Amino acid sequence: MTEDHGPGTAVVTGASSGIGAEYAEQLARQGWNLVLVARRAERLTGLARELGESTGAAVETVVADLAQSADLARVAERVAAEDVALVVNNAGINGYGPFTEVDPALLVKVLDVNVTAPTVLARAALPGMLARGRGAVVNVASLLAFAGALPPGPLPHRAVYGGTKGYMVTFTRTLAAELAGTPVRVQVVCPGLTATEFHLTAGEAPVPGERRVHDDGGMPAADVVTASLAALAAGEVVCVPGLVQAEALERLAAAEQGVRAGSGSTMAPRYRTGPDGA
Ligand SMILES: NC(=O)c1ccc[n+]([C@@H]2O[C@H](COP(=O)([O-])OP(=O)(O)OC[C@H]3O[C@@H](n4cnc5c(N)ncnc54)[C@H](OP(=O)(O)O)[C@@H]3O)[C@@H](O)[C@H]2O)c1
Repeated sequence: MTEDHGPGTAVVTGASSGIGAEYAEQLARQGWNLVLVARRAERLTGLARELGESTGAAVETVVADLAQSADLARVAERVAAEDVALVVNNAGINGYGPFTEVDPALLVKVLDVNVTAPTVLARAALPGMLARGRGAVVNVASLLAFAGALPPGPLPHRAVYGGTKGYMVTFTRTLAAELAGTPVRVQVVCPGLTATEFHLTAGEAPVPGERRVHDDGGMPAADVVTASLAALAAGEVVCVPGLVQAEALERLAAAEQGVRAGSGSTMAPRYRTGPDGA
């Protein structure tokens, strides 16, 4: 932790636009120093200058493609440093489209950016946080993690994207249980449609792309981040910014436990067939 500026250093991935840029802004205003990570250097530099001037925060930039293992290793080294008290795993790409039509290489990239990178960065950051007795990791998932088999329209085709965000939810909830009793927190935030550049492209190229996936506006990114930071202060593990009835999450957990508790080591009768296969 730095001695002269606020609560420490926060690393925000995908800080060059949208929700990540908003985390950077709100955290800087709360007194955090920042490490901003993304591919687009110009955007990062511009934001770093602006936030440094307006808030007095010390803002570093790390230009990195999180789908490249050498770049990811550089970022992992930075998040393991002792000044880092918060990691926001926000960078993400969608790879939307019918599963059998999306470029297989793009699908691998979706896994790299949305699953491998946040896992590697959490693994890099948490040992030091535990040793220092403070810190948090925020993982940005999506409401699409809960959309399951809902058909496309207005939702996009999203098998791999939904799968990656489902991973983020299960990973974070399970890790939170593992870290219970420590002062270190993990949170997964599940925004619904949010007004960013995310839907300007179905691929992984820097935005703007040519095709919009959605034309609706969505929740302002500022509200997603305000909700996430309020939930972090309140100790919420799963933050759904647009969910009015928070009890729905408790019912979901109870239903999961019902599936788990109702499954024994004997095969369920409905799968038994008679001797003739009937
Ligand atoms: N917008 C929504 O409706 C919505 C809803 C639910 C969840 N989310 C999630 O919110 C997160 C942020 O998305 P957003 O809506 O703010 O979209 P966005 O404006 O497109 O921001 C995505 C960010 O990720 C970065 N990024 C993408 N690929 C990267 C890579 N290979 N290496 C490093 N950085 C990379 C981008 O920066 P560069 O291009 O400069 O690298 C950009 O800063 C994502 O995880 C997304 O899945 C969004």
